[in-house]
Amino acid sequence: MYEQESHSLLNDILDDLKPEIIRQDLRHFYTRLGANFYAIYSLFYNLYGHREDFKPQMLSLVETMAKGYINRSAELEKVDIERERDHNWFLSQKWVGMALYTNGFADNLGDLVNKTPYFMELGINMVHIMPILKCPIGKSDGGYAISDFRQIDERVGNLDDLALVSKDFRKRDILLVLDIVLNHTSDEHEWAQKAMQGEQRYQEYYFTFDTREIPDMFEQTMPQIFPETDPGNFTWNEDMQKWVMTVFHDYQWDLNYGNPRVFIEMLDIILFWANQGVDVLRLDAVAFLWKKIGTSCQNERNAHLILQLLKDCCQVTAPGVLFIAEAIVAPVEVIKYFGEDAIIAKECEIAYNATFMALLWDGIATHNAKLLYQGLKNLPAKLERATWLNYVRCHDDIGFGFDDSDVRAAGYEPYAHRQFLIDYFSGQFDASPARGEVFMRDEITGDARICGSLASLVGLEAGIENNDQELINSAISRIILVHSLILSFGGIPLLYNGDAIGVVNDYSYRDDDGKSDDNRWIHRPKINWERAELRKKQGSIEFVLFNAMKKMIAIRKETSAFADFNNREILDTDNEHLLCYMRFDHLRPSERILVVANFDSSPQYLDLDRINNRGINLHGQKIDLYTGSKPAQLENRIVLSPYQFYWLTTI
Ligand code: GLC
Ligand code: GLC
Repeated sequence: MYEQESHSLLNDILDDLKPEIIRQDLRHFYTRLGANFYAIYSLFYNLYGHREDFKPQMLSLVETMAKGYINRSAELEKVDIERERDHNWFLSQKWVGMALYTNGFADNLGDLVNKTPYFMELGINMVHIMPILKCPIGKSDGGYAISDFRQIDERVGNLDDLALVSKDFRKRDILLVLDIVLNHTSDEHEWAQKAMQGEQRYQEYYFTFDTREIPDMFEQTMPQIFPETDPGNFTWNEDMQKWVMTVFHDYQWDLNYGNPRVFIEMLDIILFWANQGVDVLRLDAVAFLWKKIGTSCQNERNAHLILQLLKDCCQVTAPGVLFIAEAIVAPVEVIKYFGEDAIIAKECEIAYNATFMALLWDGIATHNAKLLYQGLKNLPAKLERATWLNYVRCHDDIGFGFDDSDVRAAGYEPYAHRQFLIDYFSGQFDASPARGEVFMRDEITGDARICGSLASLVGLEAGIENNDQELINSAISRIILVHSLILSFGGIPLLYNGDAIGVVNDYSYRDDDGKSDDNRWIHRPKINWERAELRKKQGSIEFVLFNAMKKMIAIRKETSAFADFNNREILDTDNEHLLCYMRFDHLRPSERILVVANFDSSPQYLDLDRINNRGINLHGQKIDLYTGSKPAQLENRIVLSPYQFYWLTTI
């Protein structure tokens, strides 16, 4: 569309660009800027058009993009161009991710390069290295309270080390994922420090108030994230003599995106990391980006506009870089982070599938797939060129944020059912082998979340401790079962450090002053490499788990029906213990894989007639891709052992 107003503004801006920018060869930059300018202008105008300094801020925005482009290496530009050409590249089934803390996996970034053979061995080709930026000792929220967005924390390494990691990964075709913490800074960040010293410019980077009136107004509708340790959403700052908004910990100051300077600073930071060779940026806590009185201050429309604007700007400078939205919110809200009112994703290309994650845990606790089936059936359809990040565990707590109407449709009362899940995973429910801990009970809402490693939550820890071979075996099966689902669902599976070898809870955080009040540390372990060696020893738990994962990953990569092109159909089996879906090749729809998983501790059967009656033809000889053999079948009933899964194809 030709739009005069934005076009003439673009001309003015180009005339005003700094001489050092004009001198560069900016051919691709100008093409992309021209293509995206109307969208960028409209979004920026929507957010900041009412301000007197709109035009100079718009100039500053374009200069930031241009500077980012000038600093982009020829090698990365080549990657951009390749990815523009093959723009669905990340929807392929070839990608399998892992998330890890640098020091939970290696000594530091330098040493991480020595450990890349482990990724190759398992088949991991996308690595999310958790926060590595400079942060205070102690008050760091596991690295999510950043005191310098451009420096790597010296405990982890420096920019040169990261360059080596990035180079090594690129050579091996491994994608590098890093965090950008958009929503807040540490109170030790230079901006916060200057604000404390009274500089108004920087006070305007945050939400600061002289009195309680506005904070009190906000509090009426804002939930609490860490009610046990950091109640409320505002903290009194003695130096400033002001209240400052701190949604997470009291030392994490929320940035004010109502200020265009904040937006431009953060864009500059995004482009800085894009230029360090990062392939995918995980945008932390994006649901919180816009604060509005009278709302929960989550999922606000302007939060989406900010993300769209970041995407459009990044597409001008570094179009090969993808965004992951970390928005752990209700299913109908999560889906919006791909962008709304569009066909193809225009916000973040990837989003955490928190709904699927929580539903899997429901299946583990209840031994049935009733809620899992409801929740997945009602998972809103996503846009094209958008994909899920499917995971079972991560460094955060598990919240049971499913949709209440799905919970009711599955036959439960939502409050009571969530209490059951909390009791189950914290081991307070009689028959439960889980060894989790309750995280942040909110006395007002009664809500709570769960911490614990995958292995401990499914009973492996209890099994080993009690030398209970049956429990050990069933825990192993459950670990494999949930992975068989995240690997086949559609989207990028994201394994969590330690889960491929069954690492159990780490209780050492209790003795560490900087960690003891945050039990998420229970599931942020440090890999013991001597133990990890057991993955090579036949008969060990590590061996069984690691080889199962490795095999599933290898099969996934070969199975084009597992790519993500909205090519999945959830099937009703009439057996509440089974989750069943069909995956098909989007180019050759007759090539299908039937995925079925038994959540029960007893054997169950899948009645093929039921499925066939629903218009799906499953006649013919079946082979399980995982075992390479025929499934146990009598007439039209396929039998699954406790916690067994099949990836069935017909031959
Ligand atoms: C994200 C991180 C979490 C952190 C929070 C605040 O949700 O995953 O670990 O506490 O943001 O930064
Ligand atoms: C972020 C996550 C939420 C988590 C919290 C603390 O808000 O979205 O899931 O509970 O951080 O980890």
